[in-house]
Amino acid sequence: MQRPHPTLGPRTSSGPKPRPARRFSRGSLGLATLLLGILTPACLDEAQAKEWVLHESSVQRLTEQAPDPTAAQAAVEEALERLYGTALAPHWPMVDPSAPAMQSLAETAAVYRDECAHCHGLEGYGNGPSSPFLNPKPWNFSLGVFPRSAPGGGEPKLDALVRLLEDGIPSSAMPKFGRLGAERLREIGGYVLLLTQRSRLEHRLVEAVLAEGPTALESEGALQVLETMRAADAQFHAPANATQEPQPKESAEDKAQ
Ligand code: HEC
Repeated sequence: MQRPHPTLGPRTSSGPKPRPARRFSRGSLGLATLLLGILTPACLDEAQAKEWVLHESSVQRLTEQAPDPTAAQAAVEEALERLYGTALAPHWPMVDPSAPAMQSLAETAAVYRDECAHCHGLEGYGNGPSSPFLNPKPWNFSLGVFPRSAPGGGEPKLDALVRLLEDGIPSSAMPKFGRLGAERLREIGGYVLLLTQRSRLEHRLVEAVLAEGPTALESEGALQVLETMRAADAQFHAPANATQEPQPKESAEDKAQ
């Protein structure tokens, strides 16, 4: 039943890897870099970095529209945690959190927190502490579209993400990350896709709770929302396309939902 997620691949090396020193991009971004250095911490505050929180728009919708906002919010948070784990111990849905690939995912999440989260946010919403100072803004992964690494729409293939991370994005604050090495960048790319899918699911879970109440997400309920979203949304197949693993075919009923 439980299988490692294909985008993560096998763990190919053992032991902790040396963490390269953090650095910002240079050159034409000198002023932005200077401002960033002065105005913002290089990474998220410790406490902030520990917990994935619901996006403010989710909290607002539940507060305004759910009969019992506290129960509704708890149901969404609990379902997301069941499927994707926590910021410190993330895993893919239906994957045993103690599987070796999931332990390397925790390492990858730590690299993401150090290198990416201050711009893209812990949850990938593009709202990290450095984001107010940047133009263009750090990309919001939860949109599920990646104009540069997947110009045709949807989620990018891992190879394209790795290339983008190696090259950075000229005339934006998005740095080059070649120093992390292709293997690490592949893992980070997989983690970006995890964040993308997790935060897109968050919105669907909010919809489900508002339509049917918190019990809609109990037992297999949240997983069904995820499966329905995958089946109805061609973009969701992109990560599977990036690997060899065949995805279950969606049924006509799923499509109709
Ligand atoms: C200093 C801020 C900053 C940091 C650090 C940063 N990014 Fe970005 N990133 C950006 C900005 C800004 C953009 C959007 C540029 C635009 O819209 O033109 C971006 C865009 C992206 C995109 C969208 C590309 C696409 O396909 O359209 C991805 C994916 C991404 N970043 C991943 C990462 C990852 C992974 C890390 C960490 C390894 C990271 N970024 C670190 C600022 C940053």
